[in-house]
Amino acid sequence: MHRNLLGIRGLAREDIQRILSRSSHYIKQLDSSDAVTFPELLKGRTVANLFFENSTRTRSSFELAERRLGATILSLSMQTSSLTKGETLLDTAKVITSMKIDAIVVRHQSSGVPILLRKHLDANIRIINAGDGAGEHPTQALLDAATLIEQWGSLEGKHIVISGDIRHSRVARSNILLLKQLGAKITVSGPTTLIPENFDKVFGVNVEHNFEQALRSADALIALRIQRERQDKAFYPNAEEFRNLYGMTAVRREKFPKLLVLHPGPVNRGVELDDVPMDGEGSLVFRQVRRGVAIRMAVLEWMFSTD
Ligand code: CP
Repeated sequence: MHRNLLGIRGLAREDIQRILSRSSHYIKQLDSSDAVTFPELLKGRTVANLFFENSTRTRSSFELAERRLGATILSLSMQTSSLTKGETLLDTAKVITSMKIDAIVVRHQSSGVPILLRKHLDANIRIINAGDGAGEHPTQALLDAATLIEQWGSLEGKHIVISGDIRHSRVARSNILLLKQLGAKITVSGPTTLIPENFDKVFGVNVEHNFEQALRSADALIALRIQRERQDKAFYPNAEEFRNLYGMTAVRREKFPKLLVLHPGPVNRGVELDDVPMDGEGSLVFRQVRRGVAIRMAVLEWMFSTD
């Protein structure tokens, strides 16, 4: 049976280790001055990138990963596709896969779309979830874990705070599932309106609404973006108040100088992160982006391997 990556849920422990380990191989190549192409690995394979929702990092890094592994790429821009004429999501996917496609990388604003496609498309088509609504974003979690492992060697016993808009965040969900499995302790911190009720029990994490209290014993912070496009009502008074309570401001950064700072992006600069925590020492924000290419190369390699 072909492999799929629908979420961290359902990904076996040995597959996680294999992807993380291969991404270390690819990041070394990306960090060296050598040309980073392995054109034999996906030679003859065609991958379709179907992004129904906007993306900079995920889409670009998947395209680069696919190219560097030698795949033929079809990237469909949904704004100019026949979806705008009323074609359904499933029909669009069926049209694309009728063109002899081996894998689909899909991003969609609705949770569950990768699972829906898995149910309805031919089993020969491999599916990668590139972010579905508030569902999961497995490659983001893998790249976040890989970025931190690069710093520490292991996540065992590390305390990681995930802050901000937990309610609408697929990144939070995938990261919690993965980082806990790798031995980290997780605290989520944000306004009560942005953390669903019983989140601690459902996900086995600590909830601490006082941000600085949460950071006191933290080794790393993963700050999340305020997702205005998914908020149908006001979950906090205004950006300035959010920044004061939950932003990693330059002043707050001075209180926690050893903390590693991550953000999946895109960043609302000056809201979740000030310039100093985003660009200064201890920030892994741009390292995450590079690691994203390595992780997506590793995921594609794993997906097309037969062993
Ligand atoms: N982290 C992330 O998914 O970013 P993009 O929306 O730019 O892909």
